[in-house]
Amino acid sequence: MEQPIGVIDSGIGGLTVAKEIMRQLPHEKILYLGDTARCPYGPRTGEEVKKFTWQLTNFLLSKNIKMLVIACNTATAVALEEIRQELSIPVLGVIYPGAISALKVTENYKIGVIGTEGTIKSKAYEIALRSINGSVSVSGLACPKFVPLVESGEYDGPVARRVVAETLATLTNKELDTLILGCTHYPLLESIIKKTMGNAVKVISSGEETAREVSSILYYKGLLTNNSTIPEHEYYTTGSSRIFSRIASQWLGKKMLNVQTVRIESKTESLL
Ligand code: DGL
Repeated sequence: MEQPIGVIDSGIGGLTVAKEIMRQLPHEKILYLGDTARCPYGPRTGEEVKKFTWQLTNFLLSKNIKMLVIACNTATAVALEEIRQELSIPVLGVIYPGAISALKVTENYKIGVIGTEGTIKSKAYEIALRSINGSVSVSGLACPKFVPLVESGEYDGPVARRVVAETLATLTNKELDTLILGCTHYPLLESIIKKTMGNAVKVISSGEETAREVSSILYYKGLLTNNSTIPEHEYYTTGSSRIFSRIASQWLGKKMLNVQTVRIESKTESLL
């Protein structure tokens, strides 16, 4: 099936999931939409995040996607169920895959979750983890300073190291053996987070398991592409295409990306 897979996020964070989908399914074309102009979603109300997530979804539906990946934990926590019920195409979020990945590796069942205020407040990870294993202990921590660091491209300097160390200090005495990066922006800070938490803590992001689920769903539904070439992915942002291109090229290790700035407030697309 030659239609693309749609991937949405509040900004560039969902690229960490898109990158895994590209790695595991190299012939599938991806349409990526990041709502950079309204990022971060983390401090916003659930109603607002739901409304924005529908706008992102409708934009990609108008481009005839065959599957939607909500590559944003904050949006998954409040909008996944509703969008899944309304659409006739498969819709996947990132929270359940993240929970599964953590439960695969934990040995002491003491799991930490870091995410946006919205995700942590929703307790979506706790609910997902406990629905699989009721005896797991979960420590959640909101890290509101992380997303702005990533969106500004400042994710590997001394400021990032200081902010990460200060923020995660309260998690270091909880005997965690596993830490879930419950925000798709955080894998860009992964090496700093790993150093801060130490070798005894396994750091988990949901991209790999999410991509594996995308692959299974497309296979079972007979929706995998027959294409044997490498497609040209399309990237849309509501913010600056220049800043988006710079960070995306660096993260994806690709030089020339097809990035366009778009407006998504109304259901119909309009190029700026
Ligand atoms: N990347 C998003 C997430 O996974 C949201 C970050 C934000 O916009 O606050 O939650």
